[in-house]
Amino acid sequence: MPAYAVSTVPYPPTETHVTSYFTIRLLGLQRDAHAFGSTYGRESTFTREQWRARLDALDRTTFFVRTEPPPSDLVADSTETWVGTASLLSPAFLTEVGFSPPRHLVEEDEAVYILVGMWIHTDHRRRGLGKRVIETVMEKVWSEDGETRRKVLMLQVHEQNTAAKGLYERLGFVDGGPDSDSPGEIWMTFRKDRKGGTSQVCTLRRIDEDR
Ligand SMILES: CC(C)(COP(=O)(O)OP(=O)(O)OC[C@H]1O[C@@H](n2cnc3c(N)ncnc32)[C@H](O)[C@@H]1OP(=O)(O)O)[C@@H](O)C(=O)NCCC(=O)NCCS
Repeated sequence: MPAYAVSTVPYPPTETHVTSYFTIRLLGLQRDAHAFGSTYGRESTFTREQWRARLDALDRTTFFVRTEPPPSDLVADSTETWVGTASLLSPAFLTEVGFSPPRHLVEEDEAVYILVGMWIHTDHRRRGLGKRVIETVMEKVWSEDGETRRKVLMLQVHEQNTAAKGLYERLGFVDGGPDSDSPGEIWMTFRKDRKGGTSQVCTLRRIDEDR
């Protein structure tokens, strides 16, 4: 098994990051259409500038997994292949796009972070990469100095997506109940200091990589 590294896309992203990002995102949408709120048909029409805009936002962080070591710096900069990705939307990002956290799931004065776009390449699954990505995401969330409120990490997953649910549950996420605006989808929440949440129905629209 190769060695893997989990990293974050720098700000601003390089051309290589833009290419690697849209390549893996489109592959994920093609291979696991059921897992995402968006579609291959929609995103395959995006321009390079639209892809870049996703990575070029300070309040949104994209994580990626690649095999290590890259053949050389030069080659890595031109042909780097990612085998996994996920993105983290910060409270500032969610405010900017007008997303109000599901009230039943969020406690008063809690800072909400949302994980979207989680995908590990089919050939590299069950090697602990999904777990490593989420642990890296958690590390980022809970090490951010600027946010003094208590933090909650949330995500949406299809209730029949047993692989993803198994992964999230294993890491301490709890079922937050269905999202009535997205049939079949449930919310899951993670709080570092304790396990637990509510199972009340949330009525907000799905947040995926829809913008
Ligand atoms: C869900 C997904 C990200 C898991 O990635 P992964 O790298 O294979 O997961 P890991 O190897 O880190 O698994 C960690 C744990 O999660 C659970 N898990 C992972 N895949 C599972 C599966 N197919 N069935 C049951 N449990 C599973 C297990 O507890 C596993 O630990 P174990 O291997 O020691 O039993 C991957 O299957 C994927 O990309 N699926 C398609 C896209 C998707 O569903 N994204 C999530 C959208 S919300």
